[in-house]
Amino acid sequence: MEKVCVVGCGAISKVHIEAIKNCKNAVLYGLCDIDENKNEIAIDNSVKLYNDFEDVIKDNEIDAVHICTPHYLHFEMIKKSLKHGKKVVCEKPAVMTKEQFTELQNIKGIENVCFVMQNRLNRSVKELKKIIENKSLGKITGINTTLFWRRTKEYYNSGKWRGKWATEGGGVLINQAIHTLDLMSYLVGEIKSVKTNMTNFSLEDCIEVEDTCVSYIMFQNDLKGIFFATNANAENDDVEISVYFEKGTAKCVFGKLFVNGNELCENEKAIVGKNYWGNMHEKLISDYYENNKYFNVYEIENSMYAVFAMYESAKQNGKEIFVEK
Ligand SMILES: NC(=O)c1ccc[n+]([C@@H]2O[C@H](COP(=O)([O-])OP(=O)(O)OC[C@H]3O[C@@H](n4cnc5c(N)ncnc54)[C@H](O)[C@@H]3O)[C@@H](O)[C@H]2O)c1
Repeated sequence: MEKVCVVGCGAISKVHIEAIKNCKNAVLYGLCDIDENKNEIAIDNSVKLYNDFEDVIKDNEIDAVHICTPHYLHFEMIKKSLKHGKKVVCEKPAVMTKEQFTELQNIKGIENVCFVMQNRLNRSVKELKKIIENKSLGKITGINTTLFWRRTKEYYNSGKWRGKWATEGGGVLINQAIHTLDLMSYLVGEIKSVKTNMTNFSLEDCIEVEDTCVSYIMFQNDLKGIFFATNANAENDDVEISVYFEKGTAKCVFGKLFVNGNELCENEKAIVGKNYWGNMHEKLISDYYENNKYFNVYEIENSMYAVFAMYESAKQNGKEIFVEK
């Protein structure tokens, strides 16, 4: 039985705690947060509470650490956890910069770290991947994704780390739409280059980072795609992924997969947390502890480098930037 400590007891931690509770090979041993009030989410008195991450990694009783902290802490926390021989599950984004990601790949034990890209396990995504792989609709001719969400001032003020380059590492792209970009690479193939524009439409008085990102994406197999993500919409609309084939169109939207307009399947409903986080943390975490199956650093490499290429392209006014180490 793996003894797990969840580090960072904010919004997403509840989903991890529930998943660990339902996992056969893992038990919630500890919770760590610098804010003592946050530890009250402990499910019972047997859970050990920590306020300092250093105490977590030095505790030999702890086998695994779940990193659910703000983005700027992921890099150091992954490194330190591995140095102390812990298993690691890390929330997205793995890290905040290209340099950090490259360094991460050379760290001893990094291949054992599970990165949380839970949307790859959504039923609609799995079925869409099958259609792509078995070519039942022929070859892909293009892909288009949209994320029209709303993040208010209150949201950004809910955590000091949000909305700042130094602590969030970016805005809608690296935080909310990273899943969508990751699915583009996961489904269609390696992203080769990007031409990106970013702007801050509606939150200039509140955040430094982009609230909107639009990108023209070129894949290794010469396919083209469009990616549009914004936190400046009037409401949280559904993320839409449309894949165009020689013989029709497949769309993931409203948590469902439609093929040529016909509903093929529906995602599992979220039980804990926000609907748009989906319900796949539990599967991802149980797969890690029970079946040693997970998305490792090499499997998220292309989408992570694509994120960094998109920031670089936006900095250079939409110049084509190649996705490379
Ligand atoms: N996979 C998903 O769909 C998904 C969804 C939401 C959030 N996330 C990710 O989860 C992470 C956390 O996001 P959140 O929304 O829960 O943030 P949050 O601000 O609600 O929670 C972060 C927590 O970390 C704590 N913390 C800060 N510094 C710490 C330290 N040094 N040691 C221990 N605890 C510390 C804070 O006090 C806070 O309680 C982010 O990386 C975010 O992108 C992923």
